This record gives sequence, C-alpha cells and structure tokens, in this order.
Amino acid sequence: MTQQMDTRLRFLEADVSRSPESFADVVAEGLSAAQKWLPCRYFYDEAGSHLFEMICDLPEYYLTRTERAILDTHADAMLKAAGDISALVEFGSGSGCKTRILLDAAGKNRPNNLSYIPVDISGEFLYNSSRALMQDYPGLSITAIAAEYNDAISMLPPRSGPRLFLFMGSNVGNFDPCEAASFLARIRSGMHSEDRLLVGIDLHKHHSHLEPAYDDAAGVTSRFNKNLLKRINRELGANFDLDQFDHHAPFVDHHSRIEMRLVSQREQTVRIAALDRKFTFQPEEYIHTENSHKYSHAAFSRLALEAGLAIENSWTDEREWFAVCLLKPIEARH
Ligand code: AVI
Repeated sequence: MTQQMDTRLRFLEADVSRSPESFADVVAEGLSAAQKWLPCRYFYDEAGSHLFEMICDLPEYYLTRTERAILDTHADAMLKAAGDISALVEFGSGSGCKTRILLDAAGKNRPNNLSYIPVDISGEFLYNSSRALMQDYPGLSITAIAAEYNDAISMLPPRSGPRLFLFMGSNVGNFDPCEAASFLARIRSGMHSEDRLLVGIDLHKHHSHLEPAYDDAAGVTSRFNKNLLKRINRELGANFDLDQFDHHAPFVDHHSRIEMRLVSQREQTVRIAALDRKFTFQPEEYIHTENSHKYSHAAFSRLALEAGLAIENSWTDEREWFAVCLLKPIEARH
C-alpha cells in the first residue's frame, strides 16, 4: 500500500495479508518446539518500540551511546569515504536520532537534493519519526517503508545515484551469523559498485560489561522481554501470568552472544484462545526470545566476505567496544 502524505513524504506498507506466516502461526510453531522460542522481531509493537527507546538511554546499555559518539566524531569522514551519495537507505531506523548525525553530514554536500529511505517494522513509529525529520530537514524527500527488512528490499524506490545503506545499532547482531550473511548478501545484490553499506557492530568484550546491558537495574529490559507475552495475551487471547516468568540474559560464550530468555518459575499451563491450545512449562523451562551476537573485527570481516562485501574502512571508540564499518561490494571477476 502506498500513501502520499506530502510531496516530500511517501509511505509504503508491506501487504501483511500476503505474508506466509501470521503471528499466531509463529507463536504456535515456537512454543511447540522442544526448545521453546519466539522471534525477536515481535518485540516491536508500539509499547515495545518505546521500551527499546528507554533501553537506549539506560546507563548499562552502552551500545547506542557509544555508536552515537563514534558517529559524532567520524560522520564527516564516513560520508567522505562513501562518496557523493544521493540517498541514504536505512534498515531499522527507530526514532532516527543517529540518522540525523549522518543526514547533517550528508546534507553538507547536498542540502536540497538528498533522499532518505527508512525501513522499519513498526509503521506508527516510522510514520512519526519521518514526519519529524521532514519538518527539520526542508530539503529532504523521504520514502518510508513499513516492512520486515527482507520484504523491504524489493520495495526500494529506483536508484537515482550512489546510495549509502545503513544497518546501524548492532541490529545485525540479532541475526544468526548465517542469516546475517544472507541478509547482507541480499543488500549486496542490489548494490552498484559506487554504493556503500555502513554497519554498526557490537564488539566482543568481557561478560561483566555485556550482561548488565541486557539485564539493567531498573528492569526496563525485563519489561521489554515480557512485553512479548503481554502481546500474545492481548492479540491472541492468552493468559500468560507475567509474574510467573523471570527475565534472564546470559552471555553464551561458545556462540559469542547474549541470549534473552523468559524462564518459567514453576510448572504452569498457559492457554492461547486464538490457537485453541494449551502449552505447559516445567520449572526453569524457558522461552528463548532473542540472540544478540558480539563480533570481533576478524569474525565480522569473514561474515562480510561471505556476503560479497569487503570492509573498506572502520571507526571505533577508545575502549574498542563498538565499531562502525564501511563495506563495499566486491566486484565479481569475469
Ligand atoms: C535492536 N538490538 C540491536 C538490540 C540488541 O542490543 O540486541 C535489542 C535489545 N535487546 C535487549 N536490549 C536491546
């Protein structure tokens, strides 16, 4: 569906009725598995998107702040290295505050001739942040795409010059490495030789820094995790008792990732009306809700290579906790 909100803002929405799997199918499949799981993309209803915004401001959640500091210091260098771009295409745009740093840097060359194409799964959030950007950047035209990342690739507007793709905020870490390589390869397949891709990655570090970032003292990440159960209660008529589940977020060394889990405190049975089914939980049994992978430079470089991309440049912070990497397509040999 396309809506023209203004001459400078187009809003495209994926047709979810054509999506092969509904939320109900996904929940039925995940909760029937031997290791119960739910995909993290369902965190982001409106309440979940707001909770994630709160996470980004938590003292323990160093990721957003560190990436922003890297952008503050190096955005000009990044844009210079990316060349004379005509469009920024951002996967997982969120509220767009880091985007503004890059738009400011890009706008120095092209204040009146830049397009911004944000992609986000939360339509309402995307719409509000796009309107705010339009007001603050009078020369910018925006095509906002409310869709899952993979669906959005085929919905991108035609290319009118070099593009800078953005996949910031360690969003790549929420994919398993194989999925990450195939998603980057899909972006790569639509890139021309002058296009570039900027990716924010959370670097591997001691678990004493990682675990508090995903289990904060104020309990916001716990609310974010449990919001998934709230959503199942509301949308699928379930009766999860949120007080009977604990939020856990251990760093699992051999996968180099934080795993978010919802751990059942006791034996309990939950009914989901929309599925007309019941699911039993044993004490300590958990639903695996998210992975957040942490990369070394070398491991990320290998992953990029698998996707047909090479790291052209990268910027990091003093502690080397986070990196922003500029990737270029590897030219196919003929
Ligand atoms: C969106 N993503 C990069 C976050 C992360 O750090 O993996 C999601 C998140 N989960 C818990 N806290 C933040």
